[in-house]
Amino acid sequence: MKVRVQPEQILASMTYAEKLAQLQIVWRPDSAEAGDLARRGAGALFWPPSAKATNDLQRIAVEESRHGIPLLIGLDVVHGQFTIFPTPLAQAASFDPEVAAADARLSAKEARSSGVNWTFSPMIDVSRDPRWGRVVEGFGEDPFLNAVFGEAKIRGYQGNDLSSDTSIAACAKHFVGYSAAEGGRDYNTTDISVQRLHNVYLEPFRVAVAAGVASVMASFNAVSGVPMHANREMLTDVLKNQWGHGGIVVADAGGVGELVDHGVAADAADAGRMALSAGLDVEMGGSLLIDGEPIIREDLLESARLDDAVLRVLRLKQALGLFDNPYVDELAAATGPDEASLEAVRATAARCTVLLKNDSDVLPLKPRGQRVLVVGPYAESKDHLGAWVQYFASPTTTSIAESLAAALPESVVTTLPGATFFDSDPGLQAEAAAAAAEADLVIVAVGEPSDLSGEASSRSSLNLPGDQEQLIGAIAGSGTPFAVVLMTGRPLVVSEWIDRCPALLVAWHLGTEAGKAISDVLTGAVNPGGKLPMSFPRSVGQVPIYYNHESTGRPARTGGSLAHKRPDVGLTGPNNTDDYFKSKYLDLEMGPQFSFGYGLSYTSFELESSADQTLSVTLDELGAGTRLSFTTVVRNTGTRDGDEVVQLCISDLVASVTRPVRQLRGFTRVFVPAGEERRVSLSVGFDDLGFWTNDHRAGYVVEPGDFRVEIGNGLTSQYFSLTVTPSSP
Ligand code: BGC
Repeated sequence: MKVRVQPEQILASMTYAEKLAQLQIVWRPDSAEAGDLARRGAGALFWPPSAKATNDLQRIAVEESRHGIPLLIGLDVVHGQFTIFPTPLAQAASFDPEVAAADARLSAKEARSSGVNWTFSPMIDVSRDPRWGRVVEGFGEDPFLNAVFGEAKIRGYQGNDLSSDTSIAACAKHFVGYSAAEGGRDYNTTDISVQRLHNVYLEPFRVAVAAGVASVMASFNAVSGVPMHANREMLTDVLKNQWGHGGIVVADAGGVGELVDHGVAADAADAGRMALSAGLDVEMGGSLLIDGEPIIREDLLESARLDDAVLRVLRLKQALGLFDNPYVDELAAATGPDEASLEAVRATAARCTVLLKNDSDVLPLKPRGQRVLVVGPYAESKDHLGAWVQYFASPTTTSIAESLAAALPESVVTTLPGATFFDSDPGLQAEAAAAAAEADLVIVAVGEPSDLSGEASSRSSLNLPGDQEQLIGAIAGSGTPFAVVLMTGRPLVVSEWIDRCPALLVAWHLGTEAGKAISDVLTGAVNPGGKLPMSFPRSVGQVPIYYNHESTGRPARTGGSLAHKRPDVGLTGPNNTDDYFKSKYLDLEMGPQFSFGYGLSYTSFELESSADQTLSVTLDELGAGTRLSFTTVVRNTGTRDGDEVVQLCISDLVASVTRPVRQLRGFTRVFVPAGEERRVSLSVGFDDLGFWTNDHRAGYVVEPGDFRVEIGNGLTSQYFSLTVTPSSP
């Protein structure tokens, strides 16, 4: 009979150096070095990358290292290992957490079968600055949406049992506040108020921990001047003690060493000591030992903290079932997508598209008899995988032009580049414009290639690169109706051309089956039903702009004008409260170009909402779990079947601190056949009406008073008044 060795027993026989070796995931070793590290008892390595190479390493770790501890094998499986799903930002646009769950389940299956047991995903950094390239990796500007999608991903990756051969350990990242990088410049400094830290940035992580996430990654930034890799208050007090995170805290790549660059550690040894002492469990890079020798003096690390970190690592390995079987079946290892996964990814990809404009029903395309011209650098490009995929990812199978030609055999589909991604070529534009004049309809496929978003890919301009905007202008000049399909990893500024453009479909980066999914939507085989998870600004100068900003003392009702005349305060008084003295830009209309939650359909919907009960509740009742329910009847008043997203937002009208003007607290995406109606129920309870106070000890409070509940679809809304009364004495 096989005797199970308990983590505590292993720990008891480990030396100081062996413990430290378990506490790092080593960066880029070649295969001989990786074998050496495994032999010396390394805790974790990046995927080698094949099932066989992984088994070889596990065999060395189990058979040739002193304690026979199997390895954690990590990899960023962010939106697919081989079969690539839409980027996380695109997934959020589906407003359907099942899209994220489907991605995570398939990712876990493919990854685990090939030897990976730990992914560095999901990223749940609330992202409000589209200049920051990493907005593509997360779920947009809203904490609730990030929490819901993060949880769906975590459950999808981890399943019910981490030891299953279709589960991998998830990692919620980056803890915390990384997305607040000033100027949207990656790795830049952050400065976050206590209330935003708790209510915006921490919130999705709190939910992730409650969902049982196996690991959390520290972020590169500092919070109140304390870099997260050495932030004991956040890593230990909040994450582990307050929230009860029992898994591991892993560093980001090189993040421990960067404590020196942050100017808080003297050298690498100091940095390692600070990080482990603050509550970090696993260093990423491999800087804790040099040639097997610890760089940190043993007496400088509290032994209980060190042992706690090692136990967390060993327990995760145990939960993953690695002590029982560290190997994978090499013959069963996934190396690419199968038919079923391609179908799944095509269906989910189409659900992520967002229709932002469709004047005169330019879309969908007519099924036959049309001359359709597809222009733009994305007409034939297959660069649809998006950020954070690796070289073994399965490429996009067909381009937009190819997919459309296949889908419209009774039309004439032709293609011209019209522009390149980055260079200027007026000749290409002229050629496309001339051809456009001869077509019945033009599809202008433009956007940012995948490399323009993701890590270290911040932009100072949010316009389309190259002369793609001029191409849109040239096509508009041809007089032929056209639709722009926009591939992007972030919200872009479309103000230069949106007024001249009859139809706009946002198709993000949709992954391996992007071409077919986009064609499904353009032809109307699928009716687009997504909504924006991040606002599209009018101008880069307006950034950050997000729907759930705190109330200001001077909210504007109109935008500004450069041709303004400054009111004379001598005549009208310094407290002039006319629109002039309101929070706005002189050179912009009010609000974003397209707001969070916005998105159209090929059909039309009417929503009628009602409250199921009296909207007055005591604090006691709320605390005891009473929820206030609303029913919305969604009527499809058009001629096509379609999906609508019902969104519930609350506003706390009077609170002890300034609260967001609106906050999403519930949503459901519902399919409604043409001419029919469906009922949707949403509710609000204690968790939805309160907030984390600035005083840690007071924690989360719901303050009695009036709330506004708004139920809508991003286009129209109905409002309800809800009153929370103090608890009866
Ligand atoms: C990124 C992380 C990622 C890690 C490992 C870092 O540069 O910030 O998000 O998980 O690399 O690849």
